[in-house]
Amino acid sequence: MNKLAFIGGSGIYDPKILEKTKQKKIETPYGISYYTSGIYKNKEIIFMARHGNKHTVPPHKINYRANIYALKILGVTTIISTSAVGSLTLKYKLGDFILINQFIDMTKMRENTFFDGILHGVAHVDMTEPYSPEIRKLILKEANKLNITIHNGGTYICTEGPRFETPAEIKMFKKFGGTVVGMTNVPECQLAREAGIAYVTICMITNFAAGISKNIITQDEVFECMKKNSIKFQNILKNIADIYIENPEKFTNKNIPRAEVIKV
Ligand code: HPA
Repeated sequence: MNKLAFIGGSGIYDPKILEKTKQKKIETPYGISYYTSGIYKNKEIIFMARHGNKHTVPPHKINYRANIYALKILGVTTIISTSAVGSLTLKYKLGDFILINQFIDMTKMRENTFFDGILHGVAHVDMTEPYSPEIRKLILKEANKLNITIHNGGTYICTEGPRFETPAEIKMFKKFGGTVVGMTNVPECQLAREAGIAYVTICMITNFAAGISKNIITQDEVFECMKKNSIKFQNILKNIADIYIENPEKFTNKNIPRAEVIKV
């Protein structure tokens, strides 16, 4: 059976479409994970607020392993996550969506694998296509239907945070081929792959990265942009949930490379 989960990033603490929601927690070998179970048109959808319901968990302290392990225990086969990002180019507008298709990991001190030689042995998963091409296609189609500006493809630079970057770092990231910068997609994306769960991230450009525009970056502008545009996320997640109700087979994890997958 296929099961859908949403992971909400900054500014998305409730997908607003779920009914009969219950706050739950689940124990995993990596610690406790908190999530919301809700019903959409008679079917359960899981929602997880990455930073907690009140945004109390900073990016470098999120227990990514517990969260993804919990979703695996719950039988989730597809994760659609949201993320606020800074743009490395002025050609995109604030509030635009970008559907990333690659990442570069610049994190420094995160527990980033299930395959650490302890519980699940040692394995090296393929990351040629980190984000599910099939689900990306669905999202692009729905965004276009909703007249939401969405840029197809881009490289997400994941920094350790919690500080924003220096302009020198952003200059370097641009040379690396980065398109946007954020603090949370790694190791979430990688762990989903190790767990054999299809994964995509819809990013919203909330600011221009350091040195790209003349302004300094504030946390408030990130939250304000998300708040102003969160209806776009709600609309797209609703359309995706409708497809899930009608065609749950589209939310399979069968198409991802799965040479090695953890067993829970
Ligand atoms: N840098 C890192 N993370 C972010 C940014 C940024 O500019 N904007 C939103 N999340």
